[in-house]
Amino acid sequence: MRIGVIGIGHVGLVTAAALADLGHEVVAMDLDAGKVELLQGGKSPFHEPGLDELLTTAIGSGRLSFTRDPHDAVHDAGVVFICVGRPATQAGDPSLTAVEAVGREIAQHASAGVVIAEKSTVPPGTADRLRLTIARERPGLEFSVVANPEFLREGRAVRDTLAPDRIVVGSDDSRGFEAMREVFGSIVARGTPLLETDVRTAELSKLASNAFLATKISFANALARIAEATRADVVRVTEVMGADPRIGEAFLSAGLGYGGYCLPKDAETLVRISERAGYDFALLREATRVNEEAVAAVAAKVEEAVWNLEGKRIALLGVAFKADTDDVRSAPALALARRFVAEGATVVAHDPMAAAEAKAAVPELETVDDPYEAVSGAHCVVVCTEWSAYRELDLGRIRDALAYPILVDGRNWLDPTQAEEAGLTYLPVGRLPRGPETERGS
Ligand code: UGA
Repeated sequence: MRIGVIGIGHVGLVTAAALADLGHEVVAMDLDAGKVELLQGGKSPFHEPGLDELLTTAIGSGRLSFTRDPHDAVHDAGVVFICVGRPATQAGDPSLTAVEAVGREIAQHASAGVVIAEKSTVPPGTADRLRLTIARERPGLEFSVVANPEFLREGRAVRDTLAPDRIVVGSDDSRGFEAMREVFGSIVARGTPLLETDVRTAELSKLASNAFLATKISFANALARIAEATRADVVRVTEVMGADPRIGEAFLSAGLGYGGYCLPKDAETLVRISERAGYDFALLREATRVNEEAVAAVAAKVEEAVWNLEGKRIALLGVAFKADTDDVRSAPALALARRFVAEGATVVAHDPMAAAEAKAAVPELETVDDPYEAVSGAHCVVVCTEWSAYRELDLGRIRDALAYPILVDGRNWLDPTQAEEAGLTYLPVGRLPRGPETERGS
């Protein structure tokens, strides 16, 4: 099938490359000339494991091309995916200006019978607005609007797209369902469940999924507070809980909380949509508050351990919002960095991939290429991102390089016994501290 993809961000690019891999003819469009040029030369504008290979094959096969002209992407396409960003307005509401603009653009160039698929995460009711916009823009055009929310995770986006847990299609007419069955037929044939709903249900299901993941993480972080107060171990508590298949072990890791482009924004959006609809989603409001508290709790451990921050040097290991990505949007590490800088500390950070992005977001941050250099002379080191490389660090060398031997593990990522044996004062989240300056070690 001929497919157009509008918006070449994380979701748009991975979707376009994956659909070409499945055998469709895909034209992806973005207004950003630099991005399109880079992609025309076969290079991805961001890091995503497996994406470069997928792009090389798809472009080489002639089934994937990039353009700045919406006509190229939309004209003749059987399905057009809307993958533009949905930033928040200053008031925190979801901004759907880009989605509306794309709807108008599609209306101008589309052929009869086109199916327009929302992949951008949007509030329920957006498809209805799009439908009206397109009908006003181009009276008489035959078209359908469907919701096809995306569940891919950064760092696993290629895998998540080619072998997803589920595909969700919300449509209010049969043409929409039929087109989407054709688009994803080969994935469904391999056993992926295809869940078909009405449009509004599909729109809400994406926000609900991300908001639930956020709530699960915040539950673990609230447990971490009570585990600290009762001298229990939150890692073991969540392990016990997760062994129950009704609960599941995923997304129960306590620590600095959730960041990234999606979970914080989508949780916030659902709170606001609920408010507008006359329902106070207090549970979700609380989950977002607990997420802020998670950063504050780790900051308090640092402040407690080093005393005054003014004039101190704090090292951060990891600034990406999670491992295997160079994305620092809403990264908890940056919230910590800003707070320590404001308190007068020098903050030096290492990250295997995201150091430049972090520096651009927080210019006061010093960044270095080597984790041992980051900790050199620091009064405290904080593990902020669960990079696998940090588990290989020589903790004895870390202790020797530090000015004070204090390690705060904001992700419960390192082995407490190894840290203690290396002579570090090890301060995890929601579990007992270890080492010389703790009750246990003194
Ligand atoms: C999230 C969802 O997981 C995807 O299903 C969804 O498609 C995507 O948003 C989206 O809406 O586009 P992503 O933003 O890539 O994916 O990040 P996650 O893997 O969900 O991680 C979010 C944050 O939660 C990270 O900061 C991570 O460190 C944190 N986290 C995760 C925890 O603090 N504890 C956990 O147990 C798990």
